Amino acid sequence: MAVIRCDVALVTLWCLLCAISKTTLSSASVVKLPKGFIACKKDDPGVNTCIQQALQTAVPHLVKGIPSLGLIPIDPLIISQMDIIQGTSNGPLDIKLSFKDLYIHNIGSIKITSMKSNINNYTFNLKADFDEPLVLEGMYNIQGKIIILPIIGEGKSNLTLAALKVSIDINGKPVTRRGDEYMELESLELKFSTSRLYIQLENLFNGDQLLGNNMNMFMNQNWREILKDLQPAFESALGMAFQSVTHQFFHKVPYDKIFN
Ligand SMILES: *[C@@H]1O[C@H](CO)[C@@H](O)[C@H](O)[C@H]1NC(C)=O
Ligand SMILES: *[C@@H]1O[C@H](CO)[C@@H](O)[C@H](O)[C@H]1NC(C)=O
Repeated sequence: MAVIRCDVALVTLWCLLCAISKTTLSSASVVKLPKGFIACKKDDPGVNTCIQQALQTAVPHLVKGIPSLGLIPIDPLIISQMDIIQGTSNGPLDIKLSFKDLYIHNIGSIKITSMKSNINNYTFNLKADFDEPLVLEGMYNIQGKIIILPIIGEGKSNLTLAALKVSIDINGKPVTRRGDEYMELESLELKFSTSRLYIQLENLFNGDQLLGNNMNMFMNQNWREILKDLQPAFESALGMAFQSVTHQFFHKVPYDKIFN
């Protein structure tokens, strides 16, 4: 079970609220596609290639944040708190693990490798690789058992995912506001695979170097087992970042300005 409290979600909610209050005060003009974005023709047989290129071109803008669209920066993506409670009879982990002030670096190195869309049905699937490893650094607190070994500690952590690949499924539905049609995001699901998880937990066992080093070595040797249990929490944290951007973008820009 994973419980995630994410700055991104809070900021999105806040942006939503201020967008609502603004539109009730003034009939704000329709947002056009921002600079650096390309519209795609929905009846073009090459529309998927167009979206893929348009999105890739937009990545540097999207990761830096676009204040006019209420988009916050997502590289690094900052997650104030992530709690992972894993206590299963069949899984390798029986732990309480929490992260604070987790910085996720290198989301901006995303390279979209495939795009499949059905624009009339508001569905999209994109696949992407990351050129740089995804580095999650922050403060951790852990207690419990990993496989057979007891573990306890708190301090700095660095979890690094090498050669990350993601697949993202996006589903929306049409809504009309002030005569314009927008896509409202209904769901965004992110799955990933990686060639390797590197784990470094500082200050395990009250700073006992020997025990700490041995445990880090043990975790790195058993990274596959450990990732199996952590993956859903990581997937939803990453998914939330993409969800925030996707939601806000489609909320602000009418659908026919994106696809015409
Ligand atoms: C949209 O989805 C429905 C069913 O979900 C399907 O019948 C229809 O053919 C799809 N439309 C297009 C344009 O593919
Ligand atoms: C985190 O770990 C990775 C892989 O071991 C390493 O390349 C990177 O330099 C580390 N980053 C920090 C900030 O310690």
